[in-house]
Amino acid sequence: MSRKKITVVGAGHVGATAAMWLALKELGDVVMLDIVEGVPQGKSLDLMEAAPVEGFDSKVTGTNDYKDTAGSDLVVITAGIPRKPGMSRADLINTNTGILKSVVEGIVKHSPKTILLIVTNPLDVMVYAAWKYSGLPSARVMGLSGALDGARLRAFIAMELGVSVEDVHAMVIGGHADEMVPLKRYSTVSGIPVTQLIPADRLDAIMARTKKAGGEIVGLLKTGSAYYAPSAAVVEMAEAILKDKKRVIPCASYCDGQYGVKGMFIGVPTVLGSLGAEKILEIELDAAERAAFEASVAAVRGLINELKF
Ligand code: NAI
Ligand code: 2OP
Repeated sequence: MSRKKITVVGAGHVGATAAMWLALKELGDVVMLDIVEGVPQGKSLDLMEAAPVEGFDSKVTGTNDYKDTAGSDLVVITAGIPRKPGMSRADLINTNTGILKSVVEGIVKHSPKTILLIVTNPLDVMVYAAWKYSGLPSARVMGLSGALDGARLRAFIAMELGVSVEDVHAMVIGGHADEMVPLKRYSTVSGIPVTQLIPADRLDAIMARTKKAGGEIVGLLKTGSAYYAPSAAVVEMAEAILKDKKRVIPCASYCDGQYGVKGMFIGVPTVLGSLGAEKILEIELDAAERAAFEASVAAVRGLINELKF
């Protein structure tokens, strides 16, 4: 059986860390592409020199040429500029849309059957733009949101209760922005709803922290945004797709009427397998949850309406 081929566009913090974990898990051979000459080549050579120590046989190569990405099964796109302190994700929209257009066109020319996993912010808008620029079926385009936001919520719940992160499950839907919707009713510890384990005021504080968790890291780092948890979450999604695991992971998926949303990408629980975003699962939302989700959809739609194609 031949190995899968995974391209990571953007050899920066998220891209290079994702490449490292993809290789460590031997999910396939990895090509890192960046606009800056030398950086993807240097980081991939560095990773190849770590391979004997860690014992992985995935090949990691770096390039500035889209020809080297030909035949990719999965392409993770992290190219763009990250948020700086005081910047909203929406501030990034113009710069990153321009970058995304050139990246997606370069990728699809050489890998017309690939699946695109978008990381670049503002996330839900960039996924929509990538879908438009790519001409790919909507199931083959998706974005990182709930896998990361849910991981953060899981970490906070585990810290609060002093229990293993392995036993904590949490669900965050909506856009990858401050209007995201953490769902406490669908967050559990070994099947026990967290609402039975954590007092309401503490739980509300944890939900609020989750919504601002990306900004919390930006405020601490000062010169960039988070990358360990984002790249780990990327690799969780990549593994589900490359191994056709049918994992249920909330991510920015194309809604065609589900949750009352039509014609855009937003974070919803999605079955991820070899065909990409194979199915959206519709869960019941109460009035408050639905109102929060609809506000998040409206915020994303407002940004999409500003895009010019
Ligand atoms: P970074 O600045 O470390 O890396 C970005 C890389 O993209 C740089 O190496 C840069 O040279 C490259 N790049 C820029 N223009 C390019 C082009 N035209 N073609 C190829 N490469 C190009 O940034 P970082 O921290 O890796 O973040 C990347 C993006 O991911 C940002 O937009 C950030 O906001 C977003 N992000 C999204 C998350 C999510 O949950 N969706 C989580 C974390 C980051
Ligand atoms: C995050 O949530 C910056 O969107 C990125 O960390």
